[in-house]
Amino acid sequence: MRSPRDERPRLSFSFFRWRETIAIPAAPLQIGDLVIDPPILQAPMAGFTNAAFRQIVRQFGGSGLLATEMVNARGFVWLDENEAEHPDRLWGVAEEARPLAVQIWDNDAETMAKVGRRLVDEYRVSVVDINFGCPVRQVTEKAHSGSYLLREPQRMFHIIHRLVKACNPTPVTAKIRLGCSPESINCNEIAKVVEEAGAAALTVHGRTAKDMFRGNADWERISEIKQHLRNIPLIGNGDLDSAEKVVAAFQNYNVDGVMIARACLGRPWLFSQAAAALKGDPVPPEPTLAEQRDVMLHHFRLVVDRFGEEKATVLMRKYACCYAQGKRGARHFRTHVARVSTAAEFHQVVDEHFPSEPIFSNSAAS
Ligand SMILES: Cc1cc2nc3c(=O)[nH]c(=O)nc-3n(C[C@H](O)[C@H](O)[C@H](O)COP(=O)(O)O)c2cc1C
Repeated sequence: MRSPRDERPRLSFSFFRWRETIAIPAAPLQIGDLVIDPPILQAPMAGFTNAAFRQIVRQFGGSGLLATEMVNARGFVWLDENEAEHPDRLWGVAEEARPLAVQIWDNDAETMAKVGRRLVDEYRVSVVDINFGCPVRQVTEKAHSGSYLLREPQRMFHIIHRLVKACNPTPVTAKIRLGCSPESINCNEIAKVVEEAGAAALTVHGRTAKDMFRGNADWERISEIKQHLRNIPLIGNGDLDSAEKVVAAFQNYNVDGVMIARACLGRPWLFSQAAAALKGDPVPPEPTLAEQRDVMLHHFRLVVDRFGEEKATVLMRKYACCYAQGKRGARHFRTHVARVSTAAEFHQVVDEHFPSEPIFSNSAAS
């Protein structure tokens, strides 16, 4: 079974060289009236960043703003009207600690405004984020949403403007890619549209939609966007997988905040390491493999409590692969965990096959 982190470019780094770099204390990030401190955000990730995952991220600390998975606005309305229910992706949102951003996607301003207002009134979310970056066909070609909208700046303006009005005073933010394709990069123009429409922050994933996850994120392009924004903060996203890279992002690029996605899936403690590095504090060491295993089992318990054993076990396969990623024996573990269907089987596979070599490796050691 492949985890999304398999798609990442393998970037080499020297942990020891990083120790010599000097942290620049990054100022807290301001999104509307909300202060995001530290300015390190946990990215929305469909299928992954549910309440169980977020609880684990919060336990380690270090992320100033967490986000849900993306929620479809029309789906919300349909469920609400026909089943008197709300999407599963809003699990935990009402009760959970703040600040918390809920991300929505769609292309109809009125529907999005209606859902935005419900999120503000009924869920008291801290931020409503709009997805303008999803490159998946189901969202782009079939629903003309996500990154598809990057080719329609006027429509983006209308959606953001309408949502800002509906959610007031809760801040509305936008998450984009550099453009639809390398041939049609328009992030500078889009940045201006996003700000003029009233958004309170802009997050940019430094790839185009056509790139999907190929190649490296283009941080020069992200940095360039800053000069096209007047007041709102710029949050950079793409390939940050170490405390060293987070510090380097603030040192070398013109960003007010950073967002981490794939790297935190199997390493939810990464935020606390990055936050310490940013402050110039000693960086907490990587947990031992036994501790990482315990985090994973705790994660499993949270998922079982919510979904029941059968569904949770299937759901947990992909998280378990993330926890093992980059370690000696990860491939072997993946092969076994991909087949588990009961909690007992999951525990047995973890006992027998979860990596136990005391070597952390960021290379393709598996
Ligand atoms: C499995 C997966 C699901 C994702 N789901 C979302 C999503 O729901 N909303 C969104 O804006 N981006 C989503 N993304 C994109 C990430 O938020 C992020 O922009 C991208 O992975 C680049 O950051 P990274 O290099 O740190 O992973 C997803 C990425 C992955 C790997």
